[in-house]
Amino acid sequence: MREKILSLLAQNNGSFVSGETISKALGVTRAAVWKHMQALQNEGLLIEALPRKGYRLLAEKNQAPRSALLEPLLRTKWLGREANFVKEIDSTNLAAKRLASQGCANGAIFVAEEQTIGRGRRGRPWVNAPGEDICLSVVIRPSIQTQFAPRYTLAASLGIHRLASAFGCNPTIKWPNDVLINNKKLCGILLEMEGSIESLEWIVAGFGININNTSFDDKIASTATSLALETGAMLDRTQTLAKLLNLLEPLFESCEDEAQFSGLLTQYRQNCGTLGQQVTVTGLNTSLSGLALDVDETGRLIIQTADGKTHAVSAGDVTLRKPEK
Ligand code: BTN
Repeated sequence: MREKILSLLAQNNGSFVSGETISKALGVTRAAVWKHMQALQNEGLLIEALPRKGYRLLAEKNQAPRSALLEPLLRTKWLGREANFVKEIDSTNLAAKRLASQGCANGAIFVAEEQTIGRGRRGRPWVNAPGEDICLSVVIRPSIQTQFAPRYTLAASLGIHRLASAFGCNPTIKWPNDVLINNKKLCGILLEMEGSIESLEWIVAGFGININNTSFDDKIASTATSLALETGAMLDRTQTLAKLLNLLEPLFESCEDEAQFSGLLTQYRQNCGTLGQQVTVTGLNTSLSGLALDVDETGRLIIQTADGKTHAVSAGDVTLRKPEK
């Protein structure tokens, strides 16, 4: 009931809704409405209550995202329609994988304010900033073959690229899926999947997006940035989350259609700052240096080494090589 009341207030965009309207719409007494309002206020939501006018939800930039606030902003058909929000979790990717194996809906999302064992690519830890960033994991159940799963890596990074562009930033993608602004990382993306060789059961795409961070740990201070630092404005994290989900849904849908995916790949290539650069790609036990020529249909980076040979690399960390003198 509490979420329903909050959702009603959120749909009214900061305008007053009378206690009577709420009680009629939801079939509860006005006394019960008042009690729920108090509980929501105690949770930290800014709800103004005025005699004869009713209640209205005031915008509070740092309000933690939650279902009732997100729902009115979603324009999606399936992405984010099953939404789980928690204060603290081990890792939203782990939580989303648990949900996926229990049979959650396609497009279910898991969002947490704080992760105790946030995970990055290649087994690295991911430390989040509660109240400042967004830790989001989405479950996708695609009807495509397992070999096409890397398409979602490209789609996910393009989604973040579009989000940052929508805020007036000038981002680039570092292959495979780091989104950078002014050479600093805005977002980390971790994709995990379950399936057999033939059939893909689910993909979990995890995003750690720096939104309102104004400073970073010493270790990453020179290599990380946030939307707030780049735009000079603090952002509403629920609106930002809704914007991202609205952008991601068509991109994820494109991964299931050959013609649409070809368009997506063209856009990825246009926005991938790695292409045309002399790079070193470091894998688990290997390292390859050369010119980054292209990204192929399966998301692999094509590198031309000094001997003129081309190599396709599926995973690794890219560093730019300094030009030789
Ligand atoms: C990277 O190494 O760049 C990827 C980092 C991905 C971090 C996000 S935060 C939400 C989700 N949950 C996790 O444990 N990891 C991803």
